[in-house]
Amino acid sequence: EQRKRIFSGIQPTGNITIGNYFGALKNWVKINEEYESLFCVVDMHSITVRQVPGELRKNTRDLLALYIAVGLDPEKNLIYPQSMVRQHAELAWILSCYTYMGELGRMTQFKEKSSKHEENINAGLFTYPVLMAADILLFQADLVPIGSDQKQHLELTRDVAQRFNGIYGDTFTVPEAYFGSVGARIKSLQDPLKKMSKSDENPNASISLLDDPKVVMNKIKRAVTDSDSSVSYSEEKPGVKNLVDIYCCATGETVEQAMGRFEGQGYGNLKKLAGEALVAELEPIQARFREISKDKAYLDRIMQDNAERASALGERTLKKVKKKVGF
Ligand code: ADP
Ligand code: NA
Repeated sequence: EQRKRIFSGIQPTGNITIGNYFGALKNWVKINEEYESLFCVVDMHSITVRQVPGELRKNTRDLLALYIAVGLDPEKNLIYPQSMVRQHAELAWILSCYTYMGELGRMTQFKEKSSKHEENINAGLFTYPVLMAADILLFQADLVPIGSDQKQHLELTRDVAQRFNGIYGDTFTVPEAYFGSVGARIKSLQDPLKKMSKSDENPNASISLLDDPKVVMNKIKRAVTDSDSSVSYSEEKPGVKNLVDIYCCATGETVEQAMGRFEGQGYGNLKKLAGEALVAELEPIQARFREISKDKAYLDRIMQDNAERASALGERTLKKVKKKVGF
C-alpha cells in the first residue's frame, strides 16, 4: 500500500523558536517515517515582507540545517528551499486564476499583516494563500501538518482544488489538515497571552532553538508569571501554565505528572527544572546543527539533490494542469 504524503513548511525569517519546535518540527520528526514527506523552507513566502538578501539566504540554509539537526533525514524526506523548485511559482500563477479576490480578502492573516505592514501591502501578501495552495497541491499531498492559524488557508486550498477538479475533472488530491499530538501552543515568555513567535521584537519573549544554555536559563528565569506565589495549572495563570507546558514538552511528562511534582510549590523550582529540561532537549540538536553548518558542501549537495527530486515530482502535476487549462 502507498504511504500517504505530507507537505509542510516554515518561513526562514527570524530565529526558529521552541514554539516552532514543539508545535511543528518535533511533530514532523515523530511522523516522518510513516509518510512520504516534503519539508520545505518557504523562502518565497518570506519576501511578502521586506528581507535583507544576505540574511534571507543565511536563514534559509540555517533552517534547512535545523530540519536535519532535529532528526529529519534528507535521504528519506524531501528537504529543500521553495525557491529552488520553480514549479511552485508556475502552479501558483495558474491557481491564482482560479481564486477569487473575495476569498483572499476574507483571509484574517492578510487583514492582520496588512495592518502591521502598512508601508508595504504588496500583491504577494494578498496572494500568499495561493502560493501556499500551490505548495501543497503541486505534490498531491494528502495531509498538511498545520497550526490552528493556518486553518483558513488550508480551507482555501481545499476550495481551489475542488473548484479546479470540478471544472477539469480529477486533478488534485484534496488535502486534509493534520493536527499534531505534541503540539502545545507555547506562549511568549513576556506576554503569555500571545503565542511565542520568531518575529517577536523582544528577545526575552522567545527562546531560539539555537540559544546558548545560559541564555535559555536566563530567559526562563525572567519569564513573566504573576503576583501569586504557588504553582497551579489554569488559564488564570497563563505565565505559569506556559512554563508547565514547556516543561512537559521538553520532558514528555503529562500535565498531571508535572503538577504532581510542582503543585503548590513556589515558581523557582518549576523555572529551574523547565530550563534544565529545555537545555537537555536543545543541546544535541545544537551539536548536530554545528556539525552540519561546518560542511558547506554537504548542505549544498543536499539542497541541490532534494530540490531536483522535488522538482521532478512537482512536474508530474504541473504537466497535467497545463494540459488541462489549454497550454
Ligand atoms: P512564527 O509565528 O514563529 O513566525 P510560523 O507562523 O512561521 O511561526 O509557524 C511555523 C510553524 O510553527 C507552524 O506550524 C506553527 O503552527 C508553528 N508554531 C509557531 N509558533 C508556535 C507556538 N508558539 N507554539 C506552537 N507552535 C507554533
Ligand atoms: Na517520510
